[in-house]
Amino acid sequence: MPSIAESRSPPTSISAGDVSSPYKRRLRSNSDLIDGLVLNTPINSCSQLKIKSPRRCVSDSPGRTRANVENGDACSLTRMKISAKKKLLDSFLDKPIWNPTDSDQSSAVKEALHVSTAPSMIVCREDEQKRIVEFCKQSLEQKKSGSLYICGCPGTGKSLSMENVKGCLAVWAKETGGQPLDILDILCTSLSSTSEIFNKILKRSKPNKKVNGRSTPLRQLQQMYSQQQQSSDKKMMLVVADELDYLITKDREVLHDLFMLTTLPFSEVILIGIANAIDLADRFLPKLQSLNCKPLVVSFRAYSMEQIIIILKQRLMALPYIVFQPQALELCARKVAAASGDMRKALGICRGAIEMLETELKETIYTSTLTSMVRVDHMAIALSRAYKLPIVDTIQNLPQHQQIVLCSAVRLFRKGKKDTTIGELNKFYIDICKSTLIPPLGIIDISCICRVLSDQGILKLGQSRDDKLRRVTLQVDEADIIFALQGIRFFKNCLQ
Ligand SMILES: Nc1ncnc2c1ncn2[C@@H]1O[C@H](COP(=O)(O)OP(=O)(O)O)[C@@H](O)[C@H]1O
Ligand SMILES: [Mg+2]
Repeated sequence: MPSIAESRSPPTSISAGDVSSPYKRRLRSNSDLIDGLVLNTPINSCSQLKIKSPRRCVSDSPGRTRANVENGDACSLTRMKISAKKKLLDSFLDKPIWNPTDSDQSSAVKEALHVSTAPSMIVCREDEQKRIVEFCKQSLEQKKSGSLYICGCPGTGKSLSMENVKGCLAVWAKETGGQPLDILDILCTSLSSTSEIFNKILKRSKPNKKVNGRSTPLRQLQQMYSQQQQSSDKKMMLVVADELDYLITKDREVLHDLFMLTTLPFSEVILIGIANAIDLADRFLPKLQSLNCKPLVVSFRAYSMEQIIIILKQRLMALPYIVFQPQALELCARKVAAASGDMRKALGICRGAIEMLETELKETIYTSTLTSMVRVDHMAIALSRAYKLPIVDTIQNLPQHQQIVLCSAVRLFRKGKKDTTIGELNKFYIDICKSTLIPPLGIIDISCICRVLSDQGILKLGQSRDDKLRRVTLQVDEADIIFALQGIRFFKNCLQ
């Protein structure tokens, strides 16, 4: 069996509205990251973010390297960690609310949330990165060829983590005084043909060698790695093949040949293949195993809601103001985690929600000094646009009194009940109407509304001669109703 090194990071139990605790807990458990990977991270995105992160000022101190950290600079390291944590927390506690009409602020926020802006620190992927770094270090130190297979759904931070890993390895190679790293990056989708990958590897391993027209690049590589090289010093090459799915769909043979290159007796290739297909390990590893080639597997699990919140907050931390209501970030994280756990999607939706706020402000008169956070209703609209959930659309397009009835049902069921009667539902309906100054409809109309909602498959009605006593249950997920109604401003207060 292939050795599967899965992410074991437990979901942190946090409330998304709680600004300090997720960071406190996360930082405690991620202290290694602060000490190690991040200290050497090549991703200096804060320069792109325009505003220097308080955390980065701490971890960026010139001259501080992994080596002197490991060599017992424990005291100052602890101080540094405490100070980093404190600054991280402070950055959330004492910030003013942003001004969305300020174009500088608006573009800084959008940039911080842009997928192509590398974060100043990669959180929630410490274990995976460590495993990849360890594999590479070991293979490089022992000059041992081998293969690692990274898989996970799109947007789970595979490519981003690999970038960080490469930076860490470059620093490590420099510090240990070994040979400079030879890394060959291949984006498989940009290959003109699948077998071009062997051409690239051949060219890199023997840059001065004349291309032998009679033999294929694969054949030449196989020959080369099957016999002792002339120079006694083995020079390892790290081949990072991203978007490996392209090779699988096009030509599975190529994939096998590629991994098999690492098993030849004099191979100098350390192969890291990165793919989105998560069932690939099952589909293609048994075959590789039967060919006596067993890549180590690191799988990147879809981000959980808690992880998405942490990542979003980390990206927003560098900004000197607050942009989102915590509940809005929580809603985004909850929906994205339930749908796909794709961070790219979460970032896009947050940017979409900012645009919702901006459009709203353009339509109001007092825009000159407005400070306003992105709210849950902005986020709900951005989410429903991104996912186009049919039930959400349906609920959002219902007449207002039908929506109020649904809102009453949600409030009623929140109190722990599983079902109710039309009569009881009517009482809650009247309460909402009173609090929102809307004249309520009569009980006959409410019964009629319940039948309509039942026909639409949103409510389920029981039988009774007396309409008021008919039992009512929800036929759709309560969360979907909340989600849909949160996108409508009128219901903002009713649902809190
Ligand atoms: N742990 C993380 N911290 C910060 N941003 C992240 C993280 N994971 C993903 N992202 C964001 O999501 C984007 C997509 O991640 P990426 O590594 O390209 O996904 P994959 O390669 O798994 O499809 C990244 O460019 C980055 O902006
Ligand atoms: Mg990728």
